[in-house]
Amino acid sequence: MFNLSFHLMQSVLPLVIHWFYSAEMSVKHAKPDFSPSQVSEIIKRLYNLTATEIRPLPSYDDQNFYVAPTEGGEFVLKIMNTEDSKNATIIELQTHAMSFLNQNGLPTQAVVPTTTGQLMSLEEVDCGYGCQKYLVRLFSHLPGVTISKVPLTPKLLYETGRTAARMDEVLQKMEHPHLSFLQRENFIWSLSNILLLEGYLGVLDGDPLQEVVKSVIHQYKNSVIPKRSNFRKCINHGDFNDLNVLVQPDDSHGYKISGILDFGDMNSGYYVNELAITIMYMMIEHPDPIEVAGPVLAGWESVFPLNEDEKDSLYVLVLSRFCQSLVLARYSVTLHPENEEYLMITSRKGVKILHQLWQLGKEHVEKVWFQRAAQFSERINGDIN
Ligand SMILES: *[C@@H]1O[C@H](CO)[C@@H](O)[C@H](O)[C@H]1NC(C)=O
Ligand SMILES: *[C@@H]1O[C@H](CO)[C@@H](O)[C@H](O)[C@H]1NC(C)=O
Repeated sequence: MFNLSFHLMQSVLPLVIHWFYSAEMSVKHAKPDFSPSQVSEIIKRLYNLTATEIRPLPSYDDQNFYVAPTEGGEFVLKIMNTEDSKNATIIELQTHAMSFLNQNGLPTQAVVPTTTGQLMSLEEVDCGYGCQKYLVRLFSHLPGVTISKVPLTPKLLYETGRTAARMDEVLQKMEHPHLSFLQRENFIWSLSNILLLEGYLGVLDGDPLQEVVKSVIHQYKNSVIPKRSNFRKCINHGDFNDLNVLVQPDDSHGYKISGILDFGDMNSGYYVNELAITIMYMMIEHPDPIEVAGPVLAGWESVFPLNEDEKDSLYVLVLSRFCQSLVLARYSVTLHPENEEYLMITSRKGVKILHQLWQLGKEHVEKVWFQRAAQFSERINGDIN
């Protein structure tokens, strides 16, 4: 059984709808359900724009609409769920991070102020279950498709690593009076909080995967935690996954990164956490997962070289992210058994990769990763020189 405090439950519930996850909110009615006519009214009243096209966009726990107005341009209206709408400071901090990254040359959405100059508005709306308060923001619409839809060439993987590292370097320079809100000590999705998974291991009772997860947590405890004091700190995006990265064609028949989405998981962490998360999600989409980390690492280190302790922890950190996703996916099945089939189909790939990495072992996997990274860096430097 789960031994979770109420506080922990509160922090978990809005988050169960993650990458592998069902689109259903576990908090009753927390997900907004605005109609196109409600959107049209808001767009007119807050932004003085006349929508000619309104189209729903996928979102897990919020509601997003593509909006094209007669006045020109393309926008995304983002309506936060009722839970997250309660803490405007955190949302303001996320918007601030997006703007700061944008000013520093990273492809994030620009926020559009209301006619009275507000970056967000708390709207009281009845979506069919009584009036509730929702924070709404309007953003520019970024071009491109999600990176999950295109072939992950080594060059694109290198670009992904480089972009993630540049993003963290910029975030580290960001100032804000409430940066301390990003500490998020009990945030279950922080890669610093792997030990919290121990409270959920019951979801794997009777499954051989439980032993692997236990061993990974054990390694995290014994080999990563003692080294953490030498990890360089930074603010993590925390969910650099294949649906949060947009790409568009470049000039040489490949793809370049055209967008970074979803800052809802931002938390104070370490550079190497972001790298491990990026590697993990790119592996999920790749036909030969072991080949992923080399080019991502080479791209990452072209911006931010790792120190020995960070390098030595990478294997366990990548495995830890697999465990986090798999365990929390199973947990979400216990909350929403009706979605089991869907959840299990989508998490099967993750289970397979975790087993593979575990069986090959740290030494072998690191050898492949680091050799490929070195080869790739040489190639890139060769191209430049
Ligand atoms: C709304 O936009 C129209 C032009 O499209 C402009 O004439 C009008 O003054 C604007 N109203 C406000 C409140 O900004
Ligand atoms: C918003 O979240 C932060 C960080 O968790 C917390 O310190 C603050 O009290 C919250 N504010 C409100 C109004 O809930």
